[in-house]
Formats: sequence, C-alpha cells, structure tokens
Amino acid sequence: MNRAENRIQTMITRGELETVDDSAEVQLVKLSGRDGEIIDEVEHVQGYGVTVNPPKGAGVLLLSIGGSQDDPVTSAIDAAEFRVKGLESGEVAIYDQTGTVILLKSSGDVEIQPSSGVVKVTGDLEASGDLKDASGTLDELRQEFINFVDLTYGVHVHVCAAPGNPSGPPQAPEVP
Ligand SMILES: [Fe+2]
Repeated sequence: MNRAENRIQTMITRGELETVDDSAEVQLVKLSGRDGEIIDEVEHVQGYGVTVNPPKGAGVLLLSIGGSQDDPVTSAIDAAEFRVKGLESGEVAIYDQTGTVILLKSSGDVEIQPSSGVVKVTGDLEASGDLKDASGTLDELRQEFINFVDLTYGVHVHVCAAPGNPSGPPQAPEVP
C-alpha cells in the first residue's frame, strides 16, 4: 500500500453506531470502529431540512477531516435493514425503524403509512377537494344530512295506506 492509499484509508472508514447525543445544534454520535475501538464525539453533519436520530447498530461512514483523527465527522448513517426497498424510478420515501413510511409515488400520489395507524395534524386540516373514509365521502354524508333535514323539517308528505291507518314515513313531495 502506498502512502496515498494509506492516507485515504485512514481518512475514510466504517463504524457501527453506539449512541446519539441529539441535544446540541450539531448532533454528536459515538460509534465503534472496525477494530472495536470506541470513537466518541463524531459530528453527524445532516442535510438541511431533514434531521434524524438513527438507531443503535446503524452503519456509519466515518470521515476524518484533513486525515486528522481529532476531527471525525459523518454525514452518512444507514440502517439498511429498515430501508424501504423496491421503489420505482424517481420515487422518494421517508421511513423509520417502526415501519412508518411517507412515500412520494411515481404516480404523483403521496402515501402516508403510519405504523401506529394514526396521522396527527396540529391545527386545522384543509382540503380543496373531497374527503373520503372507509364508509364514503364527506360530500355524500353532507347530501344525506341535507335530505334528512329536508324530509324532517321541510315540506314533505306522508302517505297513508287507508283512512284510519298510521301514516308512512316522511317523503319528498312530487315536483309538479
Ligand atoms: Fe311530517
């Protein structure tokens, strides 16, 4: 191995995540190196807009700035066993170790699959379109309610089978 190869090998190596300190502005992680040595206070440099607290045992790509062991950083921590596999070309997924997935589909749909079964929104939920659950849509429910109110409190008729018999339920009047 020549000097350049040796230098690169000491600058870039693999480790296994032990613990995470997520209290500071820059997250610090502790990991075990290839020979089992503990490397502490490694800066986990994360991209803007997304921050993570990766699980113990995750694989860490360790970089030493300028080849100095005193300045270890990582920007790549991957727990491959939890990665969402089988994405179509162009698709994007956010996932965690519980199985929760937010998937940007190639169809343009956004799928949210919470492992707890619950999606929580702080504040109001606004939709420019209709809402749909397992029983039907909000528009259908609204129309059923309007029909009920019309029949109960609006102009309606009762049909009676024969004089003296109880009348039937309210019915919408025939439109002339
Ligand atoms: Fe009535």
